[in-house]
Amino acid sequence: MRTPFIAGNWKMYKTVSDAVKYVKEFRGLVKDVEGVEIVLAPPFTAIHAAAEAARNSNVGIAAQDMFWEREGAFTGQVSAPMLQEAGARYVIIGHSERRTLFGETDATVNRKLAAAYAAGLAPIACIGETLDQRERSETFDVLDRQIKQGLDGLTAEQIGQLVIAYEPVWAIGTGRNATPAQAAEAHGHIRKRLQQWFGPEPAELCHLIYGGSVKPDNIRELVSQPDVDGALVGGASLDVRGFFEIVTRSREAAV
Ligand code: PGA
Repeated sequence: MRTPFIAGNWKMYKTVSDAVKYVKEFRGLVKDVEGVEIVLAPPFTAIHAAAEAARNSNVGIAAQDMFWEREGAFTGQVSAPMLQEAGARYVIIGHSERRTLFGETDATVNRKLAAAYAAGLAPIACIGETLDQRERSETFDVLDRQIKQGLDGLTAEQIGQLVIAYEPVWAIGTGRNATPAQAAEAHGHIRKRLQQWFGPEPAELCHLIYGGSVKPDNIRELVSQPDVDGALVGGASLDVRGFFEIVTRSREAAV
């Protein structure tokens, strides 16, 4: 049984003081919640302060992106060891906004994943099809390519530790979540490919979480689907009470 994994992706929202205020309240709300891995991903500027505010709690801190080099003349980039030292324990890699707006590809995702593991960060790798691709019945082909190229060269052990977020692009920030059946179908497909390409044991350990318009009122039916091991939550994670609801409902549904 995989522990449900719920991550809040704040995107480009919240200053340092907003983040500290949120984390202080949130850690109190979730302090007695057991059996859920809980993660918040603030913008780079707030990672250190958020990690300090979350110290000795059951809330982990993630970065929303990273660069694969350790250091160098790469203006504007932040490396995995820097994030680790700032207090991040996780990193989101290959989010669709990075792919669409900032030129992320399966090849760059692959380099970042290797660098994240090398620095001891736990990656959350994002995949998912656009609306056009779904309408052309290309969803499984797109997922196959993203898995094959994005995860190329990872060891069975690394796949076992990986969190893969299936986020259909048409569901992100649109208020139109995938139906539980659509999520279950895609997650089942991803799990099957992981079994074929990396073996049954790592495929069984790998967490497959769903993202795209997750809200307190749809989390339960999504995470009660087979192979849906949690959620990556954007907009609805910005509100501390709403995100707390998502965490508690995911736990109830998974039990
Ligand atoms: P959303 O974003 O929950 O606002 O749709 C999800 C994500 O981008 O991870």
